[in-house]
Amino acid sequence: MRAKRGEKVQVKIKNALGEESTVHWHGMHLPAKMDGGPHQMIDPGAAWTPRWTVDQPAATLWYHPHPHGGTEKHVQRGLAGMFLLHDEKSDRLALPEKYGVDDLPVIVQDVKFDGAKFDHGHKMLSDTGFLGNRTMVNGTLGPYKEVGDELVRLRLLNASTARIYDFGLSDDREFALIGTDGGLLERTTRMDRIRMSPGERAEIVVRMKPGERTTLRSFPNDSYGDFWSKRFAGGDDPFDVLELRARKKLRTSPELPAELGELEVPDGSESVRGRFFGLRTSGINGKKMQMSRIDETITRGTVETWTVRNEHSTPHNFHIHDVQFRVLEVDGRVPPVELRGAKDTVFVPGNTSVKLAMRFDGPADPDTPYMYHCHLLYHEDLGMMGQFGGRRDGREGEQGSYTARTRGPLVT
Ligand code: C2O
Ligand code: CU
Ligand code: CU
Repeated sequence: MRAKRGEKVQVKIKNALGEESTVHWHGMHLPAKMDGGPHQMIDPGAAWTPRWTVDQPAATLWYHPHPHGGTEKHVQRGLAGMFLLHDEKSDRLALPEKYGVDDLPVIVQDVKFDGAKFDHGHKMLSDTGFLGNRTMVNGTLGPYKEVGDELVRLRLLNASTARIYDFGLSDDREFALIGTDGGLLERTTRMDRIRMSPGERAEIVVRMKPGERTTLRSFPNDSYGDFWSKRFAGGDDPFDVLELRARKKLRTSPELPAELGELEVPDGSESVRGRFFGLRTSGINGKKMQMSRIDETITRGTVETWTVRNEHSTPHNFHIHDVQFRVLEVDGRVPPVELRGAKDTVFVPGNTSVKLAMRFDGPADPDTPYMYHCHLLYHEDLGMMGQFGGRRDGREGEQGSYTARTRGPLVT
């Protein structure tokens, strides 16, 4: 799907599955009732029609089911797509933008087969969730793409449930990083590897020479900490993800702009409140997700800084609904370039802390909460998730008691 900032969007979703599910707009700033989280379940055979106005910068967002306790199962079976946003500013920049020509969606999921059938089982001794032994791009095995332009933009999405990738090109050539989860970076940056945990996006631009081939690959990496967690979480595995085959003659592409514009995420200087989130597979801040409990009450319109600490050696990440954040620090230090753009999901390696700044905008909704959670979907399903709700005024709230809605605005 594709929309421009300022446009009104309405999507009709019909659930043709034999079980209930939802569709969540990952990275989208929108009213809680339209969010598609576990409070907006769609019954089998029913339809749900959320509507909202797009009000955020150009970005590569995505959508996927979010049924309470069943997200891994639904996403792993392929329910994931992209929602691309553009705006006046991005339309003026000389970036590759012909969809499917020089601007390619690259949705990466790892899979495993048992003969001709999918095998969705977890590996023994793996505490991160499902790990496949090969990858698919946009639902295709062994994919390649013939390209006819010098510059090719890849919109990378790690839509895997647990796998962390370290993407680069097979010949180690550099690429340009232009965007992260929530939109374009301030300036184009060159690099040769980018690490992405589940749910994260990156927009990269690759320069091609006539007639050549190169492969987007995921390299073995140490994202998983010590030797044993690395072994069992699959950090040793390399994957060939997507082959690019350049035509004999290529269209010339304009040079990439060096400056891409200002970020719309706060730098933390106006923060009115800090919060702490301790991550363990057993829960966040010692608690498992409960649909009927709001864990954090937030005053709409304010900036906060959240410190998220992975308290053991299992890899986790952290995703917040509705907002984009800025990563201020990783273990007290300035974050690497790929974490300096707008983010909604951030990798938090074992025994590491990240400090984030975000602004909570939009109308307060005392009845429907948003979620924050680990986006390793098995962990999310186990209850590594909490809920936040908005309040209108500046009074500090104790944890509110709250009655969960289990059905959103249903239209059948
Ligand atoms: Cu990608 Cu709570 O979601
Ligand atoms: Cu989300
Ligand atoms: Cu986790």
